[in-house]
Amino acid sequence: MEHICNLDDIEHESAREFQKDGQPILVAKFDGQIHAYINWCPHLGIELNFMPDEFMDSDKQFIMCANHGALFEVQTGHCLSGPCLGDKLVPVPVEVRGEQVWLGEVPEPA
Ligand code: FES
Repeated sequence: MEHICNLDDIEHESAREFQKDGQPILVAKFDGQIHAYINWCPHLGIELNFMPDEFMDSDKQFIMCANHGALFEVQTGHCLSGPCLGDKLVPVPVEVRGEQVWLGEVPEPA
């Protein structure tokens, strides 16, 4: 695993982008928990965000794809609305060790 950032580097109810194993990753802090996914929308296989570190919808309840507005549940990565409804973000193994966030091996997107 690799130390990618610290807990304080990510604001509550938001996400930040990182690179690992040559892939773009987003790490979200939501409801006090940390979640990590490949920054890859299952609709077209492109990155979710237009602006750096902008991943949440305006209510900060869901991860949103800036391309066509798909909404994803932060805890599971499931698409709840939008053109990839029923599909999901690809999770990346993540572990919190004290104040540090560590990421495991990044899987290939499906
Ligand atoms: S590319 Fe994400 S919703 Fe279309």
